[in-house]
Amino acid sequence: MHESGSRHGRRSAAWLAATALALGAAGCGPQGGQELQPSGAAQNGAATAELMKQRGLTESDVVAALKTYTPTGVHDPYYIFASGGHSGQVIVIGLPSMRILKVIAVFTPEPWQGYGYGDQTEAMIGSSDQENGIPLRWADVHHPALSELAGDYDGKFLFVNDKANARLAVIDLEDFTTIQIVRGGLIKSDHGATFVTPNTEYVIETSQYAAPLGGTYVPIEQYNEKYRGATILWKFDREKRRLVKEESFAIELPPYGQDLADAGKLASDGFFFINSFNTERAWGGSSEGNPPLESGASQNDMDFLHVIDWKKAEQVVAAGKTETIAGMRVIPLETAVAEGILHLIPEPKSPHGVDVAPNGRDIVVAGKLDTHATVYTIEKIQAAIAAKKYAGKDDYGVPILPFEDTIRGQVEIGLGPLHTQYDDKGNAYTSIFLESAVAKWNLADLKLISKIPVHYNVGHITTPEGDTVSPDGGYLVAMNKWAIDRFQDVGPLLPQNFQLIDTTSEPMQLLYDLPIPNGEPHYSQTIKADKVKAISVYSPIGTDPATRSVSPNAVEAGKERIERRADGVHVFMTAVRSHFVPDVIRVREGDTVHIHLTNTEQAKDATHGFAIADFNVNVSIEPGEHSEITFVASKPGVFPLYCTEFCSALHLEMAGYLLVEPKS
Ligand code: CUA
Repeated sequence: MHESGSRHGRRSAAWLAATALALGAAGCGPQGGQELQPSGAAQNGAATAELMKQRGLTESDVVAALKTYTPTGVHDPYYIFASGGHSGQVIVIGLPSMRILKVIAVFTPEPWQGYGYGDQTEAMIGSSDQENGIPLRWADVHHPALSELAGDYDGKFLFVNDKANARLAVIDLEDFTTIQIVRGGLIKSDHGATFVTPNTEYVIETSQYAAPLGGTYVPIEQYNEKYRGATILWKFDREKRRLVKEESFAIELPPYGQDLADAGKLASDGFFFINSFNTERAWGGSSEGNPPLESGASQNDMDFLHVIDWKKAEQVVAAGKTETIAGMRVIPLETAVAEGILHLIPEPKSPHGVDVAPNGRDIVVAGKLDTHATVYTIEKIQAAIAAKKYAGKDDYGVPILPFEDTIRGQVEIGLGPLHTQYDDKGNAYTSIFLESAVAKWNLADLKLISKIPVHYNVGHITTPEGDTVSPDGGYLVAMNKWAIDRFQDVGPLLPQNFQLIDTTSEPMQLLYDLPIPNGEPHYSQTIKADKVKAISVYSPIGTDPATRSVSPNAVEAGKERIERRADGVHVFMTAVRSHFVPDVIRVREGDTVHIHLTNTEQAKDATHGFAIADFNVNVSIEPGEHSEITFVASKPGVFPLYCTEFCSALHLEMAGYLLVEPKS
């Protein structure tokens, strides 16, 4: 229950009247200053106070509302691109309004967008099923990464990973659609993905659970000898908008649980960093006399931060010192050690986040079972590497740099620190899982400034431009795994909770709760809205979004037709408000039907749908888009076809028939 009651209500009346007067006098606010006389302002203040009283709102609530409320037609200054978790999709949210703007279909079918139903998007999802012929219809999306130039988001592309099936996807931010899904076949799960190097030369994908590379069977008793981790540097070709496997390579890693990763920038450009857990190499077997995996994996006080020199790795690949596994060039572990590509540094117990600061010099690591954020610096790391100053080697011969010689210091921040983001004032923000809080601390003097509770079990956090060389600050969104009592009950499975926080005030202020009905969202990145140059129609008419060029089967108005060919019936069809041409399709039972469908509109928002019952036909065609639909008319009958979007007053009339004549 709110305990605001009349106490806050009365105080608020005076406060709001004063605020309204101030606003009126300053000429601010939607009603303008000239018409709003002091008496009018006082009236408004009284009305607002009455409203606050009725709704049980405090002054702080009203301030929060004023900081987030976004009037109709006003756009947000930021986009949040959040992972959609098991939905296999990406959620686009406006900040600070926290309005959900879009779900980008990536790894899984999305009926409204017709994603996974037309030929092109079916092929997109299916492209990653080929490894063993079993269609994958879910994904575990973890970490979206925006493309960068010089360490700054450029607003062109978004990459995401599927932890469950070790896949990556490329999303084009011109039209917010998925344009490529890849599955390398080398590793079986990924978590340190996706992270980009400062000019998006590479998109990094690192395994999480060690397994034999390439997917072969090896008894688990040979875990130490035959199981391995790997980090893949996927080459990104901007012109082709493609990750190119032939130009990519991987580095074999010890069979630790490699976790999150981050690429260096500025001073640390050329390096990237990966956390690890389970350096104990436990593999479970709790009913076979072994400790359960989670306790076996939590014995050591320190795990290993992996420091990888990818520019050196590029030279080793160019020199041909690789072997090929699952069609991927791999630098063997011994080579990575011999060539000085891989070093380890102890890091406090079961770390989860590694986050390079905007200055590129500081590398912040938080250990889940520790109370500190640990700050390493690249200068100290490089000095130790150059001096070959080792604290020892691991069982695989990988040199271990001394902890004390590579850190600048530690900040005691609380129980269960996870992930760190940055602002424009030199502050760092770290999520604290066990405490359900976010800590603000100063990066220069390593001093804790304040903490704010969140609700509950926070995972990742995001700040505007928070992973770039020049973060904006101002806001922070805490991505909370549990909501418990924040929303009305909806059964045992609850929404998760994105909480918007104002970081400019001290103490920080919680502004807004956004329930997220797609679990479990992990990471998100937040970019200035004006960096994203989205198109509103496909032009020229007949563009295939997959290739971003005019389809050879694009249909011009007036040239619609039906042709019977050796491979079936070809229907060259257009959609425009409010009809399909042709609107009657006559085929025979058993015919393969190829519908080449072009939306010939160029008006913004003039989307049509195209659906036929019984044959699972459902596509969304945006203005100017061309779509291909293929199906077998396997049974006779009369099948209405219709537009699924309320596109005009005659939307219901935008319909027709598929007539399938019986064979006999
Ligand atoms: Cu087109 Cu409804």
